[in-house]
Amino acid sequence: MHQPPTAHRIDPATGAMSHATGRYEKRLRDLAGLYADAPAFDRAAQEAGGRIVYAVNEVRPATTRGDLIFGTTFMEPGQIGGEYYMTRGHIHARGNRPETYYGESGQGVMLLETPEGATEIVEIGPKTLVYVPPLWIHRSVNTGPEPLVMSFCYPGDSGQDYEIIARAGGMAKRIVADGDGWAAIDNPTYRPRAAEEIARVYATTD
Ligand SMILES: [Fe+2]
Repeated sequence: MHQPPTAHRIDPATGAMSHATGRYEKRLRDLAGLYADAPAFDRAAQEAGGRIVYAVNEVRPATTRGDLIFGTTFMEPGQIGGEYYMTRGHIHARGNRPETYYGESGQGVMLLETPEGATEIVEIGPKTLVYVPPLWIHRSVNTGPEPLVMSFCYPGDSGQDYEIIARAGGMAKRIVADGDGWAAIDNPTYRPRAAEEIARVYATTD
């Protein structure tokens, strides 16, 4: 039995994708705890907590190892206490599954961190494909004045572990506004992972 091949038109401005099979949205109030400036977040959430700040359209043909999940992500521009809007971020539940992101419109960065705490920051924008290798925690950040739209693709059995960031007090770096651009600053609440936590990530790989 062969699955039928499919084609999907992507609107670079909105991330709309034809024949998507799933969609989820994150509202501002869903992102409590992400930003360093909690009072600024509370004020923003009181004013517009129901506002959709990012949305994902996806196709999941199957969640088996040999298949791919792909889709688009749309993120509004904005800041909370000088920190740019970002996704919650995750490592794949099977930690050695990779991912690609392709810039459709807007400007942003992919903030990447190893379980051991090394950071890499890669800019993304139109016509740029970013490769997230196995075993990197990843979060996207909209550093521009327009929505950041990307398409993505990852193995069907990857899964997501969203708690790995919260357990460490956030990621090691935060992406903040700096003049017309962005800067990465140390996150004072970051706690490097203990050896057992790092070993737990590696135990998910095959
Ligand atoms: Fe991912």
